[in-house]
Amino acid sequence: MAKKITAWHTPNHGIHQTAASRLQVMPNTLGKQGVCVSVEIREATVDDAAALCDYAARLFAEELPGLFRRPTPTLEEECEFVLAHTLPANSVLLIAELDGRLVGLAGLRGRVHAQEAHVAHAQLSVDGDHRGRGIGTLLLEGLFAWAAIHGVTRIEIEALSTNPGAIRLYERVGFLRDGLRRGAVVVDGAYVDAVCLSRGPVA
Ligand SMILES: CC(C)(COP(=O)(O)OP(=O)(O)OC[C@H]1O[C@@H](n2cnc3c(N)ncnc32)[C@H](O)[C@@H]1OP(=O)(O)O)[C@@H](O)C(=O)NCCC(=O)NCCS
Repeated sequence: MAKKITAWHTPNHGIHQTAASRLQVMPNTLGKQGVCVSVEIREATVDDAAALCDYAARLFAEELPGLFRRPTPTLEEECEFVLAHTLPANSVLLIAELDGRLVGLAGLRGRVHAQEAHVAHAQLSVDGDHRGRGIGTLLLEGLFAWAAIHGVTRIEIEALSTNPGAIRLYERVGFLRDGLRRGAVVVDGAYVDAVCLSRGPVA
């Protein structure tokens, strides 16, 4: 059974909390459309694996220079991915749905050993048609709210140095730079640094 989210930060940039796991993106966030669209943030289950596969296929097909590239997962691999985020007490997978369509994904993968059980590695992505509308921020706030009530006090995240937009977003929501993994990833034949950030109990 999916773990239930029971607390959220209340953001002040046009996104409203409407219930424990239903949040709304208001017109000022959506810009030109001028319509109020409901974005639901909820915990993923293995029942979402097929939709997650389609989502991953769309994302990786973009071949973004700033994104860690992965092969599109099979359904079985996606089920394993979901279970790895749902079985451990310090891990979670949140999905954002807009009109029932999966438009964003954020995960926390907790460390295994007791001395590091308060630490989880985060990942985040939003569908190409829906970026810049506040959904990424909403997903991160969902992760922070979930972490606060599940004993995860340090969240780590990485972005390629070629992805300044993602780094700006992470710093805006409170991540601090820990350092670089120099030349950690090869993108189109060139070494690229991975920027390590964290949001934790020690400033
Ligand atoms: C990075 C990402 C998750 C942010 O989600 P989002 O819903 O667009 O973010 P929000 O609307 O809440 O916040 C917008 C901020 O995201 C950042 N951003 C990064 N890439 C962006 C894009 N293509 N479009 C819009 N914003 C982007 C910017 O910092 C922007 O803030 P700014 O307006 O001050 O420049 C999303 O753009 C994305 O999935 N990009 C491609 C995959 C990726 O880079 N993932 C992160 C890997 S570390």
